[in-house]
Amino acid sequence: MDRLGTRLAIVTLGAAAALAGAAPPAANLPIRSAQWLDQSQRLQALTSQPLECAAIPRTPGDRRLFEIGRAAFRAPLLLGGQAARSGLSCASCHSNGRRNQAFQFPGLSGEPGTADVTSSLMSSHRGNSVFDPRPIPDLALPGKVSRSRTNPVLETFIRGLIVEEFDGAEPPVLILQGLGAYVRAVGRPGCDPKGRMPVRLATMTGDAVRAVDASVRAWRSGDAAAARLLLSSARSTLGLIDERYNVAALASDRQAIRRADLALLAIEQAMDRKAADVVIRLAAWKAAMPRWTARLARDEARSLFDAANLAHSLRINSRSAPARGAGSLRR
Ligand code: HEC
Repeated sequence: MDRLGTRLAIVTLGAAAALAGAAPPAANLPIRSAQWLDQSQRLQALTSQPLECAAIPRTPGDRRLFEIGRAAFRAPLLLGGQAARSGLSCASCHSNGRRNQAFQFPGLSGEPGTADVTSSLMSSHRGNSVFDPRPIPDLALPGKVSRSRTNPVLETFIRGLIVEEFDGAEPPVLILQGLGAYVRAVGRPGCDPKGRMPVRLATMTGDAVRAVDASVRAWRSGDAAAARLLLSSARSTLGLIDERYNVAALASDRQAIRRADLALLAIEQAMDRKAADVVIRLAAWKAAMPRWTARLARDEARSLFDAANLAHSLRINSRSAPARGAGSLRR
């Protein structure tokens, strides 16, 4: 098992031990990612995120790669093993391509905003067991990995993260190129480095549509594996929307979300059969979208997109949890 996988497995065991004691499972929290957010910053991290600050490429070819990378960046299935099962994606740490200062994953993080994913760039089989969390970098700022378009060191670094640190499957080349294009585009000059944007239903439905469009682009270029991964990104985003409607009175909204998700699952299966009508079906899925998103929008103020509702729900569900439940599991 890779280093990270080993550590996550230890954490899982730790969590089981904690369950045997008095501590209730953190899984009571209505939003899964709340489990790995510093409690004092949790509400802010769930209701707003840093501005993306991406310079969207103008030429169609570059734009296509950027969108593919953007969707892959938000796909937990890109990462393997425990990370994928926990719902972690690149964006969990680098929210909107930037820095999630509230990230505090048991066993991976020290201070909030840190994680132990030491670069595999130089040594792909370190396999050390040193707990060495580093600050999560803001990808909009120049870092230690060159962003030069003529130097593929960025793609090599990202591939190492996926395959060696996160135990992921070998990513399709198109996905790696896309991630490189996305990371290079983050960091538009003049963008307010401290600016934040609210997390709304429209933000997430927008992400889902862009992932579907990226999937169509990959499918058209004959890359079924990439297309499938990108569709999984759209489905994960639907999962994030679903959590926000985890309110008793909004059960029928959740049913609508689940129907939309099942429709995407059926298209995933059509991709596996190499069906001829994949693009038409994805277009029909998008065309049907306003019908169900309109009702979600109508109910948004009653959902957990609303900060007061969310705060209330987090309070109730974590009332009996230990103050910093993760802390005891950290090593
Ligand atoms: C668990 C949190 C986490 C996840 C998930 C994660 N990263 Fe990072 N990332 C980090 C940390 C921490 C560093 C700094 C590592 C270091 O200093 O050695 C980093 C560094 C980087 C860098 C180098 C920035 C520089 O200094 O130039 C890039 C690029 C990057 N990550 C992209 C990604 C991509 C793409 C993904 C998804 C495939 C991803 N990261 C997933 C935490 C994460």
